[in-house]
Amino acid sequence: MGLPVTSPRSHVATEQKTPMSNVGRKSFNSRVSVHRKSWVSRSFYLLMVIFSVVSTYIILGQDYIHVFPTIGQKSFDGIFGYWASNKSCNVFSGSWVIDQSYPLYNSSLCPFVERGFNCERNGRPDNEYMKLRWQPHNCDIPRFDVQSVLQRLRGLRIVFVGDSMGRTQWESLICLLMTGVEDKRSVYEVNGNKITKQIRFLGVRFRSHNITLEYFRSPFLVQRSSPPKNAPKRVKSTVKLDRLDSISKRWIQSDFLIFNSGQWWTHMKTFDVGNYFQVGDTLKLGMPITTAFQTAITTWASWAKENINMNRTHVFFRTFETSHWRDVASERSCRLTSYPMSGTEGLDQNPFASIVREVVYGMKAPVKLLDITYMSALRCDAHLGKWSDTPSVPDCSHWCLPGVPDAWNELLLTLTAPKNGTQPA
Ligand SMILES: *[C@@H]1O[C@H](CO)[C@@H](O)[C@H](O)[C@H]1NC(C)=O
Ligand SMILES: *[C@@H]1O[C@H](CO)[C@@H](O)[C@H](O)[C@H]1NC(C)=O
Ligand SMILES: *[C@@H]1O[C@H](CO)[C@@H](O)[C@H](O)[C@H]1NC(C)=O
Ligand SMILES: *[C@@H]1O[C@H](CO)[C@@H](O)[C@H](O)[C@H]1NC(C)=O
Ligand SMILES: *[C@@H]1O[C@H](CO)[C@@H](O)[C@H](O)[C@H]1NC(C)=O
Repeated sequence: MGLPVTSPRSHVATEQKTPMSNVGRKSFNSRVSVHRKSWVSRSFYLLMVIFSVVSTYIILGQDYIHVFPTIGQKSFDGIFGYWASNKSCNVFSGSWVIDQSYPLYNSSLCPFVERGFNCERNGRPDNEYMKLRWQPHNCDIPRFDVQSVLQRLRGLRIVFVGDSMGRTQWESLICLLMTGVEDKRSVYEVNGNKITKQIRFLGVRFRSHNITLEYFRSPFLVQRSSPPKNAPKRVKSTVKLDRLDSISKRWIQSDFLIFNSGQWWTHMKTFDVGNYFQVGDTLKLGMPITTAFQTAITTWASWAKENINMNRTHVFFRTFETSHWRDVASERSCRLTSYPMSGTEGLDQNPFASIVREVVYGMKAPVKLLDITYMSALRCDAHLGKWSDTPSVPDCSHWCLPGVPDAWNELLLTLTAPKNGTQPA
């Protein structure tokens, strides 16, 4: 395969290794291997989540859920293609291994990486974080071969919906595909828009292959609204948990549709700014955030079932990508390292990930999980830190590009790969 834009050997940063990265090198191999999880605390946690999910279903009276889904199976059921049909290969279980042929592209040569995510350009001196490949335990995922992927995606409309993490994944996929396009100017944003944090819609077209990659900003997936009449003064806006985002109609006529949500379901983005939950005409002032999230994702599932033609559209929900703040509550200081952690330190046990899993497992419709929580939880090395466009504000939520979101896309492409000898997905 070609890596036309990368030239790892000439990379200046290799001579400027930070002391930290030298220290990390010796024990690296043992540290990246995956550690056993604490099954006891995990089972307890799962029980808690199942209990709360089940109560929500009972409350909402949804009819499409199997109340006790089989944990851990659905992610490989019902997906088209070889990789998905082979249950002995869980592509989400594995470890990060050093691969000098990575990264798969250079952000400085890809106009669709926003400045804030291009850590190398923003001065990050180490580059080990770019040179890691995700290796599942029981199988190999195919190497990213840009020409065959471009052929496979010809004529398709690929839509990402979610928060800035969805935007990062969208940017990553564009850059991955652009390495196979000679005339970079033939890849363009359909409205001539620049990537900004607030923009609601971005669409990039690959003229040579007639591929469209779109991003819709919808951090809650459900509808934002002004407060109902007679709401208390502190309520400045609401999130309507029983209504999908008003732009959702524009998502459905697509070939791949990839959702994510989670990062905005925090006190800081809701109660602290006067943003409260609402169901019907009723404010739910005391509703805990995880309950609200569960309600919203259940609304999403119901919407997906009714509105998406799953004969055409391959629907994915990408699970939560954990942050690595030193202090989660204040989000002020970061623990950015040069190498991944050897274990997740429990960071993969995330309520937002669990809720999405439970809801998706329970759907009869063939929606798939992109269950990247565990793999991403290991990557405390791969966030922006101070190498963003605002160095004074450390960022241990967003990811450097190239980096972890590329691996999410490699899995997305793997799971949508056609069976050999059958029709393309
Ligand atoms: C990416 O391209 C920039 C500009 O050409 C170059 O300075 C940098 O070394 C490249 N990075 C990698 C990882 O090859
Ligand atoms: C499934 O994957 C396993 C592990 O990679 C492999 O040994 C096996 O042959 C595969 N099974 C099928 C039916 O392809
Ligand atoms: C591009 O793809 C769309 C959707 O598949 C199709 O309707 C259209 O005819 C294609 N255009 C060209 C120029 O191939
Ligand atoms: C999807 O495919 C199934 C089986 O091939 C068919 O029965 C169904 O009508 C199709 N649904 C739509 C919306 O095209
Ligand atoms: C699919 O076929 C190609 C060549 O036709 C082969 O190289 C590849 O290994 C096959 N992949 C699988 C998963 O069987």
